[in-house]
Order: sequence, then C-alpha cells, then structure tokens
Amino acid sequence: MQTIQFENKGNYAIITLNRPDKLNALNAELLKELSYQLDSIKANDSIRALIITGSGQKAFAAGADIAELHRETGETGAEFAQRGHNVLLQIERLGIPVIAAVNGFALGGGCEVALACHIRFASENAKFGLPEINLGIIPGYGGTQRMTHLIGTAKALEFILTGDMITAADAERLSLVNKVVPQEELLKTAEELAGRIAAKAPIAAKAALASVRAAQELEYNDGIQFEITKFGEVCGSADFKEGTKAFLEKRTANFTGK
Ligand code: COA
Repeated sequence: MQTIQFENKGNYAIITLNRPDKLNALNAELLKELSYQLDSIKANDSIRALIITGSGQKAFAAGADIAELHRETGETGAEFAQRGHNVLLQIERLGIPVIAAVNGFALGGGCEVALACHIRFASENAKFGLPEINLGIIPGYGGTQRMTHLIGTAKALEFILTGDMITAADAERLSLVNKVVPQEELLKTAEELAGRIAAKAPIAAKAALASVRAAQELEYNDGIQFEITKFGEVCGSADFKEGTKAFLEKRTANFTGK
C-alpha cells in the first residue's frame, strides 16, 4: 500500500490516508487501495470497528486530487464521481461502525469521506468545507446528499454555495461532528470508542447501522417494518441469548458474533 496505512488492533482497525505531502488528497490510487482494504476488513469477522484518519497534523484529506480532477470532461465526469461514490458506499455499508478521526482539513472529497463514516471526532484545528464551487463544480462524492441529511437543507446549501470552511467548534454546533478534542487526544478518543463498540454484539451493531440508515433511505412505514424485521433477526442470534442471560446472571456478556 502506497497511499494508505492499515493497522489491525485486534478487534478494531485503523486506516490512515497517507499522502501527507498532498494533504492526503484522494487520487485514483488512494481510492483503489482504500477500496481493497475495506473489502479485506469486511471479510475479517474479528474486526468489529474501524477508524479512518489522515496522516500528519494538518489534514484528514483536502479533497479529490485536483491535478487528476482537472483532466475530467463532460464525458468522463460522471464516472469519476461514481468511482468515489462506490468507495464511500463501501464505508457506509461496511457492516461495522466507522469512526472518522478528523485531524485537520476535511475539504471536498475529504469532508465527504468523513460524512460517509458513522461517527465523527475532530481535533480542535480541524476545518470542514465543500469548496467544489470554487473549482466550478459541485460535490460529487455524496456531499449534496449526506450533508443535507445531517445538517439540513439551508445550512448544507450555505456550505455548498459559498465553499467556505468552518472550524471544528462550529462543526460540533451543527452536529456535523460528535465531539472535538485536542489533536494529541484525537486518536486515543477514537480508539477508546472503537474498543468499547467492538466489545458489543456485532450482529446487533450491524442491524443498528442498517436500521438507522433505513431511516434515510426508506419511507417512514417501510423503515418501521425494516426495524421490526431486523429486530426479529437479532432475536435469533446466540449473542442475544448470551446478552440477556448475562444480565440475569449479573455478569458481563461475552459476545461471539454468532
Ligand atoms: N488536490 C491535489 N493537491 C492538493 C490538494 C488537492 N485537493 N490540496 C492540497 N494539495 C497539495 C498542494 O497543491 C500542495 O502541493 P505542492 O506542495 O506540491 O504544491 C500541498 O498539497 C500543500 O498544500 P498547500 O495548498 O500548499 O497548503 P496550504 O496550507 O497553503 O493550504 C488548503 C491548505 C487545504 C487550504 C489548500 O491546499 C487547498 O485549498 N486545497 C484544495 C482544497 C479543495 O479545493 N478541495 C476540494 C477538491 S474537489
């Protein structure tokens, strides 16, 4: 891997976007390596949470690689966006919780990667923005959709139409990030949460992720039905029996992911 780093920490893992000299800008190679690594995490049942962060102290990712982007045309642009979407959908649908540890600039595609994660922590120096309009384009890796779902139409449009950056503190006020911490505590904070979630029942975590996503993807009554179906499914798991038995026996549950 040239453009990302991967660390397996036992029951969770860390992917670091790793082009620090280009502020971890997302080029085709990085997207390819990220996609490959996500597939391999998905196939590994022992990894129960993932953290995505950026290399260095300045950037999470400063967007799609503008040198590559510049070559796109009216004929090729949609394919460019589709390739990014495919990888970000892999993140969103990984089946385990993905935490973005945003350690600096999260702009354009970088912001969109953070938006595809399920939980976002930011360092105090982090900056968020969708500056595509300054390049004469619009967000193409989900920014118009996920940002709107997360913070509402008016605030999302302010981001997208001005291209302005906001601070981590403002991002927390908008519920764009879950929590802001000093940079030196960022990874520790993300790892602590990843470890805690990794100890929960994986089948229930997967069902929770799918059901909450259904709240955005389905009509209300279909979403209710989806939750009912998922609830029924998790009731069939060994971990459900273990969790309830452990409560009744006043001990800590030992979840096996079955
Ligand atoms: N694509 C390609 N290269 C990028 C990049 C991107 N999105 N963002 C930064 N870089 C490169 C710069 O070209 C520079 O490379 P160089 O040293 O070879 O010239 C290097 O990363 C450092 O960036 P620089 O601009 O010198 O840092 P800065 O601290 O002055 O500014 C930013 C930081 C984030 C404000 C600025 O880099 C920027 O605006 N980046 C583009 C953000 C953007 O529009 N993203 C959306 C893309 S769709």
